[in-house]
Amino acid sequence: MKKIGILTSGGDCSGMNACVRSAVRTALRLNIEVVGFRKGYLGVMKGDCIDLDSKTVSGIMHRGGTFLQSARSPEFKTPEGQAKAVEMLRSLQVEGLVILGGDGSLSGALALHRLGFPVVGIPASIDNDIPFTDMALGVDTALNNIIYAVDCIKDTASSHARAFVIEVMGRNSGYLASIAAIASGAEFALVPEREFDLAEICQQLRQRFEEGRDNAIIILAEGASSGQAIADSIKDAIGFETRVTVLGHYQRGGAPTVFDRLLASRFGKKAVELLVSGNHGVMAGLSCNTILATPIEDVIRGEKRPQDEMLRLAEVLGI
Ligand code: ADP
Ligand code: F6P
Repeated sequence: MKKIGILTSGGDCSGMNACVRSAVRTALRLNIEVVGFRKGYLGVMKGDCIDLDSKTVSGIMHRGGTFLQSARSPEFKTPEGQAKAVEMLRSLQVEGLVILGGDGSLSGALALHRLGFPVVGIPASIDNDIPFTDMALGVDTALNNIIYAVDCIKDTASSHARAFVIEVMGRNSGYLASIAAIASGAEFALVPEREFDLAEICQQLRQRFEEGRDNAIIILAEGASSGQAIADSIKDAIGFETRVTVLGHYQRGGAPTVFDRLLASRFGKKAVELLVSGNHGVMAGLSCNTILATPIEDVIRGEKRPQDEMLRLAEVLGI
């Protein structure tokens, strides 16, 4: 290959810049040119790209977000949009594409692969809902952001003897909520993967209040309910005054943790090596601390990672 492209798509996450940097530097060492497409698949369809050299990607490792920008493009979901993208890639003489994103973006990668265009995917989404990788890029940073926020909220909750419902992201996955609850010592994690009984929760919170405890933290996954709805249902029954915090997009930004910087660097290098060696249509994933390639077809068809072990751990810890 003489020239490859790279793009970041879907919800941005910390570590995307570090990953692009690693992919670019790996390709340059192999004497392969790299272009970066702006705004994910939108940039591919429009041919909106920039040349990436070693200098362009220096000084970006510590920055959250994605300097290539990201987008959600409904047009690319259509066969016409995908054909347009392949045509544009061929006219730009781009011979392969490294695609960073969540499960939607990886479905897009699969579409290009099925059209015969060489792609390698990299799992990048704070939701950690992508099969065949222990961790997606950005998850660790998002969790650290959440824990920082929960610790801060606990300080003010204790000062006023309040209960807080803290809503975290994750789309349909309760991963962020369950891990955040374990790591912050929260009282409850409400996640889509496990049914919960609000009457039972109210009773336990009431007991906690009557014991004289000075705070209660309930971490809610956005896929399970809304923070306000939970607070409205419990506020008159638990004794504690109740407040809601929706952490929102704060969770997605900020400097990547060391874990994410390293994972990003490993993913970027491996993706380019796979692409160049002709191992296309695969996703680089983390498995038992090794970066392995899995066909994107299997990733898209694969079952979401079960939460059983973490939920059991939460139960044992009294969450
Ligand atoms: P994420 O990658 O974070 O899951 P999205 O689900 O929004 O985010 O997907 C990002 C982009 O990937 C979409 O805007 C669309 O362009 C493309 N995409 C999503 N699903 C598909 C699909 N089934 N087929 C082709 N492209 C898709
Ligand atoms: O998929 C990542 C994610 O941050 C989800 O956790 C969240 O539901 C969604 O993206 C938010 O999307 P947007 O940035 O389009 O509001």
